[in-house]
Amino acid sequence: MSFLEEIQKRRTFGIISHPDAGKTTLTEKLLLFGGAIQEAGAVKSNKIKKGATSDFMEIERQRGISVATSVLAFNYKDNKINILDTPGHKDFAEDTFRTLTAVDSVIVVIDVAKGVEEQTEKLVEVCRMRNIPMIVFINKLDREGRDAFDLLDEVEQKLGLKVTPLSFPIGMGYDFKGIYNIWEKNIQLFSDDSRKDIDNTIAFDDISNPELETIIGEESATTLRDNLELVYEVYPEFDQEAYLEGQLQPVFFGSALNNFGVRELLDCFVQIAPSPRAKASEERLVSPSETTFSGFVFKIHANMDPNHRNRLAFVKIVSGTFERNKPYLHVRHNKKLKFSSPNAFFAEKKEVVDISYAGDIVGLYDTGNFKIGDTLTEGEVLHFKGIPSFSPEHFRYINNADPLKSKQLEKGIDQLMDEGVAQLFTLDYNGRKVIGTVGALQYEVIQYRLEHEYGAKCSYETFPIYKACWVEEPENSKDAEFQDFLRVKQKYMARDKQGQLVFLADSAFSIEMVKQKYPSVKLHFTSEL
Ligand code: G4P
Repeated sequence: MSFLEEIQKRRTFGIISHPDAGKTTLTEKLLLFGGAIQEAGAVKSNKIKKGATSDFMEIERQRGISVATSVLAFNYKDNKINILDTPGHKDFAEDTFRTLTAVDSVIVVIDVAKGVEEQTEKLVEVCRMRNIPMIVFINKLDREGRDAFDLLDEVEQKLGLKVTPLSFPIGMGYDFKGIYNIWEKNIQLFSDDSRKDIDNTIAFDDISNPELETIIGEESATTLRDNLELVYEVYPEFDQEAYLEGQLQPVFFGSALNNFGVRELLDCFVQIAPSPRAKASEERLVSPSETTFSGFVFKIHANMDPNHRNRLAFVKIVSGTFERNKPYLHVRHNKKLKFSSPNAFFAEKKEVVDISYAGDIVGLYDTGNFKIGDTLTEGEVLHFKGIPSFSPEHFRYINNADPLKSKQLEKGIDQLMDEGVAQLFTLDYNGRKVIGTVGALQYEVIQYRLEHEYGAKCSYETFPIYKACWVEEPENSKDAEFQDFLRVKQKYMARDKQGQLVFLADSAFSIEMVKQKYPSVKLHFTSEL
């Protein structure tokens, strides 16, 4: 197979949802279709169960699972599919945001009874900002849920999407008869496991054909005809270009648990979803079909064995091929590195491979060289864009609780921040360190890991901060207004790990005050100015 064909057949995507909508179940069914696993229950959920906050063994166990399920790859109909796992737990949302920089498209799972939930809103917003192509899968049709049209309305309104259904349910819950597949023009009758019983698919392109009554009954036939008429009237026809540009989102209905509607989703997905897309770097747009290698680190996972403090850096290959033992340029360090055992992922296993292609993910063992966002190339100086930090939700001072171990503490904090566990801010006026996290759970993870992996002890102190705002420094740093702002807010001015200036605002009100009093000071809510 030629280099270009290898790239064309790759589909690298993420599944996003609010916890419990069915992401794990859907992932598992997709893997079953790919023949990558043999039985249901093989994919472990990497959910952090409620109440796990104080259970460190549970956190460690979860970390283990999330390494195993970070990338799930399988082949389906001549396509190589890479599913990038995204943690559903909101305390790890930052991790998910970063993973979204490495996907070429996403599938959004929505629970038919619950509709659009909070986590889905946040994640879809990030995808929308980046024009990532999205397919929506409305799940759990075997249960009583909301009216399909109401749900489509809600998806449009709350998520800001423009949808077009490519399948439509016939009944729901107790009365669920199946789905009409608008994309393939057929009817799929509901059964517990459609994978085994593929004969349940009946080609049916003329919906006015009276045979419909014999297949699904009179009442359902009338309702389906009415519904489809409305669908054709209200929603635009599917347009692949619009989908690829992130302007139109096709919707499928089904039940992941019953493996129903999943094959339809997958078959359409492999046809319409993009192969690896070009990625913008600060220097230029990099196309996947370029023969020289480039890639970036989007995730770092610490080793769970504290005696071997090496980590696994996940690299998305943007262009060319990644080869074992070939020297590559680590752009930030301006240093060539060779990797003797790059890991590729297959189903829930990882194995050493000689060559991987654009679109693939490789896992590289690292002893502290990498941080999230680092670029690797064959020699060109490139910096890939699109891995901003968002403002944390929680802020605490971190103190050294064992003065004899301050070096260890510093190193530990440094490495954990590189992994993206949390964000570090250093206050300008007194040099105190502040840790910002998305969820309270991270503080316990950090404390535990500092002690067990670095032999350092820390304690926290509350710091009531509302939001971190990145400050665009004016060209003329002597600017009177800017200097006045720095002076008045000096107790709240800090630097992030990259040395960018940050204003730690203690309330929404104080952000408003700054905007009014210092109109020339530009505040940003992500680190990407
Ligand atoms: P998540 O990864 O998005 O958090 O969700 P997950 O797949 O773990 O699914 C959450 C719950 O919803 C699970 O039940 C799962 O069995 C159920 N579920 C998923 N898809 C469907 C569906 O199509 N129909 C129905 N009726 N249920 C579905 P649980 O009881 O929380 O977990 P488990 O004990 O079954 O693992």
